Amino acid sequence: MLAIIGGSGLYSLGDDFHLDDQCSRKTPYGETSADVLLGCWQDIEIAFLPRHGAGHSIAPHAVNYRANLWALKQAGVSRIIAVNAVGGISSEMAPATLSIPRQLIDYSSGREHSFCDGRDGLVHHVDFSQPYSATLRASLKQAAARLDLAIVDSGTYGCSNGPRFETAAEIERMRRDGCSIVGMTGMPEAGLAREIDIEYACLALVVNWAAGIADSEISMEEIMVNLEQGIQRLRPLLLATAKLIEA
Ligand code: HPA
Repeated sequence: MLAIIGGSGLYSLGDDFHLDDQCSRKTPYGETSADVLLGCWQDIEIAFLPRHGAGHSIAPHAVNYRANLWALKQAGVSRIIAVNAVGGISSEMAPATLSIPRQLIDYSSGREHSFCDGRDGLVHHVDFSQPYSATLRASLKQAAARLDLAIVDSGTYGCSNGPRFETAAEIERMRRDGCSIVGMTGMPEAGLAREIDIEYACLALVVNWAAGIADSEISMEEIMVNLEQGIQRLRPLLLATAKLIEA
């Protein structure tokens, strides 16, 4: 089954999602951000989980990523499309751009980032050279083309810790490192998905220029406007992608 993890601004799949069941929040790793919703989205069986909680009450560094991923796995999820609001660093990542990043660099710290915590007495090392699923990325690209929706089929996601935005120097370092977008929630989510063998891709929506890229300071008003408008374009893309994947 496919799951969608909703980021900032995406707290439901819309009126045409019909709820069949919901899983409790309890896992061996603590509580999930919200109940995992299981249902049908225009005949496609799908799971949905809002990363920041149903009403956006959980900050990026406080999300229980392990519980979220574990609960999705228990619910029978084998593929995840994760939606992330991001800041644009490189010139092709202007606000309102949609991107399917190909790579990521993790600058976050202090987060429970692995299922490998000694509970089973084993140490696992997983390959993470290509952090995102090529198959899911291709489906997102194909669905965007069908909808005639512009999407940047590349990018390197830099994951900062938040919840504050970055300094201009931090963004300049990320740019030199090769990051084209910056967000606060891409990791450890992607790495945890790999550890438990769930295919994972990120659909990033650029909602502002990252710190120091534009002349002005980062404005929450601008972010909210871009978020609202962007989410309207995201839902049809997610649905078209789900139909392609589950066909
Ligand atoms: N930085 C980090 N995370 C973000 C940003 C940003 O500029 N915009 C949206 N999420």
